[in-house]
Amino acid sequence: MTRDNARIGPTIGWSQVTPRADYLNRRQIMAGALGLGLAGLAGPAAAKLDYVPSKFSTDETPNTLEEITSYNNFYEFGTGKSDPMNYSGQFQPEPWTVEIGGLVDKPGTWGLDDVLKGITLEERIYRLRCVEAWSMVIPWIGFPLSALLEKAGPQPGARYVAFETVVRPEEMPGQRARFLDWPYREGLRMDEAMHPLTILATGLYGEELPNQNGAPLRLVVPWKYGFKGIKSIVKITLVADEPPATWKMLQSNEYGFYANVNPKVDHPRWSQATERRIGAGLFGGRQETQMFNGYGDQVADLYKGMDLAKFY
Ligand code: MTE
Repeated sequence: MTRDNARIGPTIGWSQVTPRADYLNRRQIMAGALGLGLAGLAGPAAAKLDYVPSKFSTDETPNTLEEITSYNNFYEFGTGKSDPMNYSGQFQPEPWTVEIGGLVDKPGTWGLDDVLKGITLEERIYRLRCVEAWSMVIPWIGFPLSALLEKAGPQPGARYVAFETVVRPEEMPGQRARFLDWPYREGLRMDEAMHPLTILATGLYGEELPNQNGAPLRLVVPWKYGFKGIKSIVKITLVADEPPATWKMLQSNEYGFYANVNPKVDHPRWSQATERRIGAGLFGGRQETQMFNGYGDQVADLYKGMDLAKFY
């Protein structure tokens, strides 16, 4: 990852300088126009989702929609923090299919409607901690990954889950360069994948996911560094052995497979002891990073017997 070079700047928010249409993607604008039947007259509205609250949500104040959609990592659209917002407008997340395979009873290619059939969406307000030492609080809309894996019927030999992002260089300008070995890949151990905190997100702030946040389906694992949260997923494979993960493949001395948030183990280029909360402003300062990003009560048991002084 490139260095986090965002300025800690004046406190003028995006909403004060940028109309909503400029930072949300075209799909949402079109959905809004169709819904209104009067394109352009009342301005864009995004497709609303039905969801229920969750006991797993933090009561910390979420970042603004503007912050969450204008400061992103999504190298398929470029390496700059505003590249995903600026260059993801051509990306078409509908229609969408996900191929589910490997060690499952029901392999196949599932449309997003099949994935979501019978599923209740929940709001999960989670902290997101990037390995670049910044953080946000994001009100995701999603559902437990376990619900989808159970539908597919995991077989006993399945010990890991592998994920892949779509490859569409014609719609994703970053993929025309070789920043990374596309497709972006990530993985989880099976017990991590089945953990109730692990979700697939389809929205945020009550509306469909903007392209820059990984439309239409992305992984969120709140106790791990953000790079585990693979976006725009098209392939999920249950496997016996640890699958390849993009950043680990690139620099295994910097990025681990587990990548659990750990203030005691520094990344070679970033201390992990503290973090900058995006939007905290000039005087917001830095805050201490919490072990497992503050989710230790729920997840520490998964790692019993592992040496947490190592970078995982
Ligand atoms: N997924 C893909 N396919 N490509 C990426 O470059 N970046 C990761 C992760 N998922 C990335 C990705 C990183 S480094 C982070 S911190 C989070 O997405 C950022 O998610 P956000 O932009 O929704 O906040």
